[in-house]
Amino acid sequence: MAELLKLGVLISGSGSNLQSIIDHIEKGTLPAQIKIVVSNNPEAYGLTRAKKHGIPCAVLKHQNFLNREDFDCELIRILQNAGVDLIVLAGFMRILTRDFLHIFEQKIINIHPALLPAFPGTHVQQKAIDYGVKFSGCTVHFVDEGVDTGPIIIQAVVPVLPDDNAETLANRILKEEHKIYPQAIRYFAEGRIIKNGRHVEIKNFRNPDHAAIHNPPLER
Ligand code: GRF
Repeated sequence: MAELLKLGVLISGSGSNLQSIIDHIEKGTLPAQIKIVVSNNPEAYGLTRAKKHGIPCAVLKHQNFLNREDFDCELIRILQNAGVDLIVLAGFMRILTRDFLHIFEQKIINIHPALLPAFPGTHVQQKAIDYGVKFSGCTVHFVDEGVDTGPIIIQAVVPVLPDDNAETLANRILKEEHKIYPQAIRYFAEGRIIKNGRHVEIKNFRNPDHAAIHNPPLER
């Protein structure tokens, strides 16, 4: 059997994406293992989820560090000790330093609850509603020095409905996050990602779908 991809998952909150990764691993649909979960927030519910599944956890309170560099230095040490192959940001609310990005170059991915490059940053479900877009969604991308600007690996699209608020839209998007994040990690585990500048090609992807989607729907 091929070796399992070793993951370090960084969280700050609820950890529902972490949970979906754990569930896929336990179901046998994701050939990976989580070596460590790190949270900057000791209250993050994701820590409880990880412990329930016997996954090692570390808490790094950013308030205990003088600056970002010191915080990242400790984070790097923890992740290197755990021997991780891929760093998965799952609701991790910290900006990473240049050093961190350099050490784990091409090995850091993030999930963002909008269809990038639209709506980078925070509170993006509300921003999508305020703008009046008919579709939003989620994006898994490589992490680079910008905010949510790295090369895109996979996206999912959801409609924005007339009576949506930020919470209903976030929930619709989150359901898709829980599908595409494990899928993106699987691409890594199976060695199917070819990155060429901004372009990420997935080798041997199945079931290409060329159908357009419409919102509101087309009427015949
Ligand atoms: C998700 O919406 C993710 O896209 C964003 O932060 C949220 C984390 O949710 N980066 P959870 O902690 O995985 O439930």
